[in-house]
Amino acid sequence: MVLTGGTIVTRDGIHRADIAIRDGTIAGIGQEARGGQTLDITGLTVLPGVIDSQVHFREPGHEQKENLEAGTRAALLGGVCSVFEMPNTSPPTTTAEALDDKFRRARGRAWVDHAFFIGASPDNIEDLAELERLPGCTGVKIFMGSSTGTLLVPDDKSLARVLASGTRRCAIHAEDEDRLNERKALIKDGASVEIHPEVRDPLSALIATRRILELARAAGRPVHVLHISTADELPLLAAAKDIATAETTPNHLTLTAPQCYRELGARAQMNPPVRDQAHQDALWEQGIRGGVIDVLGSDHAPHTLEEKALPYPQSPSGMPGTQTLLPVMLDHVHRGRLTLERLAELASWMPARIYGASRKGALAVGYDADLTIVDLNATRTIRNDWIASPAGWTPFDGKTVRGWPIMTMIRGRVAMREDEVLGSPMGQPVTFETDEGD
Ligand code: DOR
Repeated sequence: MVLTGGTIVTRDGIHRADIAIRDGTIAGIGQEARGGQTLDITGLTVLPGVIDSQVHFREPGHEQKENLEAGTRAALLGGVCSVFEMPNTSPPTTTAEALDDKFRRARGRAWVDHAFFIGASPDNIEDLAELERLPGCTGVKIFMGSSTGTLLVPDDKSLARVLASGTRRCAIHAEDEDRLNERKALIKDGASVEIHPEVRDPLSALIATRRILELARAAGRPVHVLHISTADELPLLAAAKDIATAETTPNHLTLTAPQCYRELGARAQMNPPVRDQAHQDALWEQGIRGGVIDVLGSDHAPHTLEEKALPYPQSPSGMPGTQTLLPVMLDHVHRGRLTLERLAELASWMPARIYGASRKGALAVGYDADLTIVDLNATRTIRNDWIASPAGWTPFDGKTVRGWPIMTMIRGRVAMREDEVLGSPMGQPVTFETDEGD
C-alpha cells in the first residue's frame, strides 16, 4: 500500500512525501514509494505513531473504571498506536504470573500495541532484574509516594536495592512519602479539593526527585521521572541528563490551579497535582521549549464520577487522558506553543527510545507502519460522549481544539478512521531491545 499526498513529520523535518507499506512495515518514503493499492491522504499530516507511555487501564481489579478493551479503544480513537500500562492494578503487576495474566487478557481485546510495567514492591526486589527482561515488559515502575493502589517503595535503602536489581530505565513516581504523610494534617473537615496542590506540595515532588536522582547516579541506573509538575524540579533534571529523562502530562500543561479545581472539582485531582500558572509557564518554557522534558504521557487514570463526587480527600486522584492527549497537544501546536517536530519527539520518538521499544516511534524505512494521521485544520469540540472509557468523562469536556486525529494505522492496517474503530482488536505486545537479546 502507498499513502500519497500527505505531509510527513520525520527526524529530518516536515515534508511532502509518499509512504509505502509492506507487511506492516514502512518499506519506502518519497521517491522509493511505489506499490499496489494507494490511499490518498492529501491535506493530512502523518506523525509517527503516537505512544502513550503512561496509562492505567485498571484490569484486573477495577474494570468498571477502565479495562484493556475500552482503554485501548480510547487510545486508538485518540490517534495513539501503542500504550505502556502501569502496574497499580488489583492485584498489582509484581510477578511474572501477573504480567502474563495481563498479556492473556489483552489478546484479541487490545486495539493498539501494548506493553506492561512491572511494579517494584518490597517483596519482589530480588526478582526485578529477571522480571524486567520478560518479553513485552516496559521496565520497572517505582512509586516513591502513595497514590492509587498499594505499590510503594518509600525509603532510600529499599530504593537503592531496587535500582541495583536490573539495568533498564526505571519509571519513577516522585513524591516524598514522609512529607505527604506530614502534610495530611492540613486537611481539615470540609476541606475543598483546591487544597490538593498544597497538601501534595511542590516540595514533596522536589524532595523525591532530588533523592531519586542521587540514588540513580550512585547506582549508575537510568531513571525516567514521570509527570513533572513543578518549576523547582526542572533545574535538577536539566543537570541530570546523564542519568535521567523526564515526562510531563497534557494536564499539567493545560489545566491551571486554582481555576481548574473551581471549575472541575475533584475531576481535576491527580497526583502529582495540577499546579498554578507559574509552574505551568516553567514547564512550557524550560520543560518543553528548553528541552528538559523528554516525553509526554497522558497518565490516563480513570475513576468514576461517583467516586469523584466523594468529599476530598476520599475522592480518588486521576483522570482519563489517553484519548485527548493528541487533540489537546495539537491545539497547543496550533497556538504556537510547540512545533509539530517537537510533539513527534515527545510523544512518539522518545517514549520508544527511553524504554528501548523496537521499530516504533519514527517514520523511517524498517520501522513498524504505525501512523497517526491528523488534520491540522479540523476544529472539533471534545465531549464526554466521545470518551470510550467506562468512566465516561474527560476534564476537557467542552474544549474546542484545532487539530484532530483522522486515521490511526497500526502495523499497516487502518484501525481508526473518522472517529470510528475498524475491524477487530489486533493489538500486539510491543517488542523491546532486551527481548532481542542485546
Ligand atoms: O493521579 C494519579 N492517578 N496519579 C497516580 O500516580 C496514579 C493514578 C491512578 O492510578 O489513579
